[in-house]
Parts: sequence; structure tokens; C-alpha cells
Amino acid sequence: MTTDVLIRPETDADHDAIREVNRRAFGQDAEARLVEALRLGGHVCTSLVALHAGRVVGHILFSDLPIVTRTGNVPAVALAPMAVLPAFQKQGIGSALVRQGLEACRGQGQQVVVVLGHPHFYPRFGFSSELATRLESPYAGEAFMAVELTPGALHGVTGRVQYAPPFEALE
Ligand SMILES: CC(C)(COP(=O)(O)OP(=O)(O)OC[C@H]1O[C@@H](n2cnc3c(N)ncnc32)[C@H](O)[C@@H]1OP(=O)(O)O)[C@@H](O)C(=O)NCCC(=O)NCCS
Repeated sequence: MTTDVLIRPETDADHDAIREVNRRAFGQDAEARLVEALRLGGHVCTSLVALHAGRVVGHILFSDLPIVTRTGNVPAVALAPMAVLPAFQKQGIGSALVRQGLEACRGQGQQVVVVLGHPHFYPRFGFSSELATRLESPYAGEAFMAVELTPGALHGVTGRVQYAPPFEALE
């Protein structure tokens, strides 16, 4: 990373800054509202902020995303949304958020992470669209990717991912 950045879990005091980072990065309100709805609904597993000089400049969130199979639910999490303030993009902050976010998920015992994102960006962290083809989702295609935090976690698993209800409002 070219910028001096600290990454840590969000606190209540970060909520306004997280809203602003999402608004500015996406150029709209939808993702900021999604973050708040996921928090309110108790769907958040991990939410990290990136701080530069004490200011929140980046944010990443992971929420519950069970895989519904014929024999029961397999736990998994969705990476979404992720945002870095425009002036701080392309300096490695987003990558650091993904890496530390995946570590935090692993530390919680999560085994599978799913993302809908840029096919050029996420494979460097182990995400694969091929791995995700066994998962039924409203978002099939090369942008829909999965990574196993435990090797083989998706072995033999086929089912439908169930996004938390606030994602429906994003359509
Ligand atoms: C996506 C985002 C968080 C990446 O943050 P960042 O700090 O710039 O990321 P890094 O500096 O670690 O990496 C930059 C890489 O991200 C790639 N990238 C990731 N997502 C991208 C996207 N949606 N569009 C274009 N490029 C993207 C860039 O091509 C670049 O690749 P390179 O390393 O091969 O040049 C940031 O660009 C952003 O906030 N974008 C707007 C919001 C968004 O689209 N979020 C992702 C969807 S949830």
C-alpha cells in the first residue's frame, strides 16, 4: 500500500463516515442504505474500516449468505459492499480490505465467501467464477465468484445462495 493505512473493525462512531465513503465511492445512496439495513437486520458478520490519518477512507462488509441445499443450509458469507474514497483508490487500500476481511472471516470460522464483483480484481484473492457455478444465484456469470477459506468446503455442495433481504432493495 502506498498510503499509511490502518484497518480495524467498525465501531458505532464510524457509522456516519462509512455512509459517506459508500456514497462518494458509488456516487449514489443505495449501497450506504444497504450497509445500514444489513446492520439493522443483524446480518453483518464482519465490517472493517480503513483509516488514513484517523479518517475513514475505506470500508468492506461481509454478511450472512446461507447456501440452501436439499440436505440443509451450508453457511457462507457475501462480500458486499466494498468502497474506497475516490481520492484514495488505486493505492492498494481495497486489496488490503479484502485480504484482512477474508482473514477476519476465517478467524470467525467462516468457510466460504461469495462476491459479485469485477472479474479482473477478485481472482487475485482466490475467488473463482468456476467454483461459483455450482451455486444458484440471481447473479450468475463471470462476476459471480466464490472462495473456499477451508479447502474443499464447497466440495459436493450444490444449492441456492440466499442473500439477506436488504439486498432485494438494491435491484
Ligand atoms: C473497488 C474499489 C473498492 C477498489 O479499491 P482500491 O483501493 O482502488 O483497490 P486497489 O488499489 O487495491 O486495487 C485497484 C484494482 O481494483 C480494480 N477494480 C476493482 N473493482 C473495480 C471496479 N468495480 N471497476 C474497475 N476496477 C476495479 C482495478 O482495476 C485495479 O486493478 P489493478 O490492481 O490491476 O490495477 C474502489 O475502486 C471503489 O470504491 N470503487 C467504487 C465502488 C465499487 O465499485 N465497489 C466494488 C463493488 S461492491
